[in-house]
Amino acid sequence: MSEPTSSEYLGKMVADLVACGALVDQRWQAAFMAVPRHLFVPRFYRNDQQGSTVVDEAFGDEWLAGVYSDVHLVTTEDVRSSSTAPSLMARMLEALELEGGERVLEIGTGTGYNTALLSERLGADHVTSVDIDPDLVAQAKERLNRAGYSPRVVAADGADGDPDAGVYDAVIATCRLDYIPQAWLNQLRSNGAIVTPLGAGVAVLRKTSAGDGATGRFLSASAYFMPLRHQAAPALAGDLIRLALHGSGDTRPYKFGASIHSDNEARFWLDLTNPEVRPATVDGVSLFFRPDGSWARLVDDQVTQGGPSKVWDDIEAAYTTWLAAGRPSREHYRLTVSGPQQEVFLGDSTEPVLRLKA
Ligand SMILES: C[S@@+](CC[C@H](N)C(=O)[O-])C[C@H]1O[C@@H](n2cnc3c(N)ncnc32)[C@H](O)[C@@H]1O
Repeated sequence: MSEPTSSEYLGKMVADLVACGALVDQRWQAAFMAVPRHLFVPRFYRNDQQGSTVVDEAFGDEWLAGVYSDVHLVTTEDVRSSSTAPSLMARMLEALELEGGERVLEIGTGTGYNTALLSERLGADHVTSVDIDPDLVAQAKERLNRAGYSPRVVAADGADGDPDAGVYDAVIATCRLDYIPQAWLNQLRSNGAIVTPLGAGVAVLRKTSAGDGATGRFLSASAYFMPLRHQAAPALAGDLIRLALHGSGDTRPYKFGASIHSDNEARFWLDLTNPEVRPATVDGVSLFFRPDGSWARLVDDQVTQGGPSKVWDDIEAAYTTWLAAGRPSREHYRLTVSGPQQEVFLGDSTEPVLRLKA
């Protein structure tokens, strides 16, 4: 039997996205059918215990099956960019609630696949995409042109939006933020939409008609995007990792083990309350860090902590708050942005449960 063709793979991917409820709007279904993902992902990197393998056209069917599966694919060897899982992309695009004719600003061009979907749906002259990485921008432009789209693609820091191009109807980001940049609100028309990863969730906001504020909610889908580099904590230094692995500090029995940090629903609250905390597993040991040099090591029911702040004390306190609130999932939270004041509410409460720090 012959291998399936790329269009057969594409058709199956779209049918699966419709079946799982990620693609509902027929106009988005048509856009997904029209854009061949393999043109934007000529290779991806598979990481396993043997290390990193590049999977490209030479792998034939394995490459196409990977490209048209609903997973996020690492597309650069140094993991600085990736192609978002199609179902998450579809849910985020649908959350923009576009009618046609809108001008959209995308932050995080990456492979250009999502830029192509927007161009197919709205017309490329309605789409601007920004990525901080000039090499990725050049590559995405080339792929977009080859696929027949020529949107404006700019190498710049997306935290500043696109200050030179007037007002947009919507902003969509595909990198993780810890707060909403005021620049995006300044460049958005009244009632315009922002859809962006925030912590480990996706925030869907509408700009209010009065002033430069916005209100919104979170999608129920979890989202683990790579951070907007502008807001990201610096890379972990080897010295800090060694200190966390072997250093002495304050040791006590832990109340909760490292698994709370990988609980999908808890993680949303833990990341919102402690956006700077970064996990790492080194030699099988669970470590947690802050960029100020604080660290925690969890071994045999004990936590050892060092540095200026107590990382695991803070994570346990946030987890206790989340348990006491009845373990709410992402869609039970709301977000209100009013200038630098960015507040998270739970349910119908008018008292914020959290103020995000810019
Ligand atoms: C998950 S990838 C984007 C996936 C993309 N939408 C696709 O379909 O391939 C995240 C991208 O955000 C970009 N990025 C990170 N920090 C940024 C910033 N400050 N401004 C603009 N882009 C940024 C990265 O270079 C990376 O390409």
